[in-house]
Amino acid sequence: MSAKRAAASPEFARAERAAKFIRAKTRLRPKIALVLGSGLGSFAGEFVRAVKIPYAKIPHFPRSTAIGHAGQLVVGAFAGLPVAAMQGRVHLYEGYSAKDVAFPVRVFARLGVRAVVLTNAAGGINPEFSQGCLVTLKDHLNLQGANPLTGPNDERLGPRFPDLSHAYDREFRRFAAEEGKRLGLPQHEGVYAALAGPSYETPAEIRCLRTIGADLVGMSTVPEVIAARHAGLRVLGISCVTNMAAGILDQPISHEEVLETGERVKGQFIALLKALLPRIAEAIA
Ligand code: HPA
Repeated sequence: MSAKRAAASPEFARAERAAKFIRAKTRLRPKIALVLGSGLGSFAGEFVRAVKIPYAKIPHFPRSTAIGHAGQLVVGAFAGLPVAAMQGRVHLYEGYSAKDVAFPVRVFARLGVRAVVLTNAAGGINPEFSQGCLVTLKDHLNLQGANPLTGPNDERLGPRFPDLSHAYDREFRRFAAEEGKRLGLPQHEGVYAALAGPSYETPAEIRCLRTIGADLVGMSTVPEVIAARHAGLRVLGISCVTNMAAGILDQPISHEEVLETGERVKGQFIALLKALLPRIAEAIA
């Protein structure tokens, strides 16, 4: 096999096939995509001209199995802007590979999307954070032991060695700070450490993460960010601190608590997303 042929991975054709399927369902051509984590899916319910496509129907798309994740793609318009939103995502802990987790982002890139907004629930490590606060991601630590770009690189998807120096777009971070301030939200930025999960961390792991520079910990987002940057998409990441990380407070962490906090701050989170969409749209126009 020639080196050239070895580099043409089936991933490009898969992403194209999925994009073609989605394009056939709507005349909208979104330039912004959102990945709505636990509880935030309802935002997509406000889109007009919306088409809802279950992940199971989209060729090669991974299906979410986590509670609180609807598992459908909604393409619609918000405030006159065409947008694509994932109601729920898949995670490594469900048994998916980092490539599977990142696949939807690759499809977005094939669809012509230029910016992705990734949301998640996270544990707060930085003691300045509190339960329920929203934190804009400024960088990450990939501690998942996996990378979606492992394997032959198809140059049509992006370069072999993509730069991640400014993975989280500085202009988008400024928008988040400005719009958050306008909404009266406390201002926070942080470094997100992604672990594979699904067990929550031990207090010793959290002390270690704090020492190496993490402000937040979670089990998602990083594969999507890597694939997005590989494809040249601009990224905004926002975490909801659904709980303080293990050992920060002397209390156990439960998935119910994570869901409850997500539900409690969902209104603020959605208000922030609504304020950000027009700013992002203008920046990528
Ligand atoms: N750790 C990992 N992932 C999480 C947490 C946490 O404390 N909270 C929400 N997602």
